[in-house]
Amino acid sequence: MSGRPPLRSLLFIPGDSEKKLAKVDGCGADAVILDLEDAVAPANKPAARRLVAEFLAARPREGRSPQIWVRVNPFDTGLTLEDLAAVAGGAPDGIMQPKTDGPADVARLSHYLDAFEAASGTAAGSTGIIPVATETARAPFHLGAFATAGLARLAGLTWGAEDLAAAVGASTNRGADGEWAFTYKMARSLCLLAAHAAGVPAIETLHADFRDEEGLRASCRAARSEGFTGRLAIHPAQVAAINESFLPSEAEIAFARRVQAAFAAAPGTGTVGLDGKMLDIPHLKAAQRVLAQAEAFGVG
Ligand code: COA
Ligand code: MG
Repeated sequence: MSGRPPLRSLLFIPGDSEKKLAKVDGCGADAVILDLEDAVAPANKPAARRLVAEFLAARPREGRSPQIWVRVNPFDTGLTLEDLAAVAGGAPDGIMQPKTDGPADVARLSHYLDAFEAASGTAAGSTGIIPVATETARAPFHLGAFATAGLARLAGLTWGAEDLAAAVGASTNRGADGEWAFTYKMARSLCLLAAHAAGVPAIETLHADFRDEEGLRASCRAARSEGFTGRLAIHPAQVAAINESFLPSEAEIAFARRVQAAFAAAPGTGTVGLDGKMLDIPHLKAAQRVLAQAEAFGVG
């Protein structure tokens, strides 16, 4: 969705927890995702819908910081429409759609939002959608189709390993080395490629061990270096590390400026030398991306 600042950190908050909802202001996240899905027990769904609706109603409808997103229940639960009916009038910045099979599910949700926006006087098309695009066995096969699906609401793609493991009857999603097992690495890479193919941000999955700041920072750095631009969080203690990790560093910004200057000094040239190394157009594009990120977040 154009016109929105990029999201580095997206903090999940169970929609039925008044105490945790009270932590939104000052949590530092770029977005919060008020959850109506798996963080809420079935008996609490109606109460969670009410709380989330009240929460949205008490806030301005535009320019919110953090952005307020809602994770709804997937279609096969039969709960999606009730979730949307409860919260859409509050004009959430976007809807996170879990267990998405592919672009057709996002298109269906988008049609629902067309109707809810019209009914509640919310600007048409203003509600974004981020699907969790690897949580079913079918989903990875449809990732490439996001690029040509023409989904104007698509605001990013993210992936999840827990539900995918459950979907395939796996007893673990980790290898003996503690890293993601092959299936999940593949799903993650396909999500990364699909997001870039579709021209939307790739959002890394959560780091479940919320006391492990060192591991979180290391895996955020790895994700950023691979092309992810933000990450899901489950605990407020993770937000600062995520925000910092997904900003370009001073050294990266300084190098990007030098790369840009080297190309500017040689107009019409596709290859330049810098510090004894060859640079060509992909290096210039990478430098421009770093500088655009720095400008978006006002750093450097
Ligand atoms: N959002 C807002 N506040 C949160 C929070 C969250 N996601 N997670 C924890 N907090 C608050 C706690 O309420 C607690 O507040 P207090 O100091 O006023 O008591 C404080 O942060 C410290 O929490 P802590 O005791 O470290 O964690 P916990 O045991 O209370 O909660 C979890 C652990 C995992 C249950 C909790 O972090 C959580 O609910 N995470 C989100 C889960 C979710 O939405 N999952 C869906 C996507 S997978
Ligand atoms: Mg899940």
